[in-house]
Amino acid sequence: MKGKFNIDKFQGIRTPFYYYDTNLLRQTLASINMEAGKHENFIVHYAIKANANPKVLNIICQSGLGADCVSGGEIKASIEAGFPTSKIVYAGVGKSDWEINLGLDKDIFCFNVESIPELEVINELAGNKGKIAKIAFRINPDVGAHTHANITTGLAENKFGIAMRDMENVIEEASKMKNVKFIGLHFHIGSQILNMNDFISLCNRINELQDQLEGHHIKVENINVGGGLGISYDHPNREPIPDFKSYFDTYARHLKLRNGQKLHFELGRAVVAQCGSLITKTLYIKQGSVKQFAIVDAGMTDLIRPALYQAYHKIENISSDEPNETYDVVGPICESSDVFAKAIDLNKTKRGDLLALRSAGAYGEIMASQYNCRQLPKGYITEEL
Ligand code: LLP
Repeated sequence: MKGKFNIDKFQGIRTPFYYYDTNLLRQTLASINMEAGKHENFIVHYAIKANANPKVLNIICQSGLGADCVSGGEIKASIEAGFPTSKIVYAGVGKSDWEINLGLDKDIFCFNVESIPELEVINELAGNKGKIAKIAFRINPDVGAHTHANITTGLAENKFGIAMRDMENVIEEASKMKNVKFIGLHFHIGSQILNMNDFISLCNRINELQDQLEGHHIKVENINVGGGLGISYDHPNREPIPDFKSYFDTYARHLKLRNGQKLHFELGRAVVAQCGSLITKTLYIKQGSVKQFAIVDAGMTDLIRPALYQAYHKIENISSDEPNETYDVVGPICESSDVFAKAIDLNKTKRGDLLALRSAGAYGEIMASQYNCRQLPKGYITEEL
């Protein structure tokens, strides 16, 4: 046992693999339910895109959260895991016909609609089935978030959502259509947001829009503020559970809900990031001319976040307590971006040691690829080992 890992249990398992600490996952879910539960009308969905491992999904579903899906595949995965279809919300700029039909057949709670052409298709497909699709409009609030450019989504220049100035027109259009029912507004400004001021900016913008709609006697039953709460990548041991209290309290304090309105959240990263680690084995120590490399058997195919977003994942040598040495930790893929960390201090590592790349439960396993004809990494939960 070193730190939080019982590595005896990892012996004999083919590396690299994802390990999910289900005790931590359950504690995280309990914290979400406790903090959101303090506010009347708060409803939390889990953004399936962060991690769709069936065993992880099953635990999340048991906690009572709803499911936020962005594809037909995610709708299927959430239904298989046991999420009630009445708690499924479905977003995405490019929903294909079969995906819309699946959502209609399953009577999901709501389609988050991102354009008029999409609205027309949903109306038509619902009409073919003699159904009425519940829809919310995803509004682009033009609110920036202090996070990586690739993961901000709420700026006017992003492809997501309907422009604010078009909001009333689209609601008007929808009211003329027979097979859709307008039930709410949807927003999402980005991901890995740690500065509560960003969420306050979103609240202020929504308050303005709501005043405008009220002026036109348009009733909105549901407000969905998306997800985005960040986690501590630097200190996964010290801060294993994100600050859900500040997050939900910020919305309670700054968003003016109107009569009976429900407030929906779609949290992904904050639910699953800290419970997951990518476990990899040191293959070789290579002395370069200016650096020392630890070459490991996991690559960017298993965890693409460092290569794609220059993201930092803390790396721990869970096999050794020897004094630190400095390494570039790199994978075996034929790309020079296949680097997990540069010049980090690690307990001295040798061939065969296990390393844990921490905070990898969100956007890790699910973003893995088979580039270089590699096998996809498997995911194990505590109970299996
Ligand atoms: N709702 C919508 C509409 C979203 O687009 C997203 C994430 C979420 C909810 C969940 O956001 P979260 O609570 O996880 O921040 N692959 C990137 C993150 C992409 C996030 C995309 N949208 C990464 O690894 O950092």
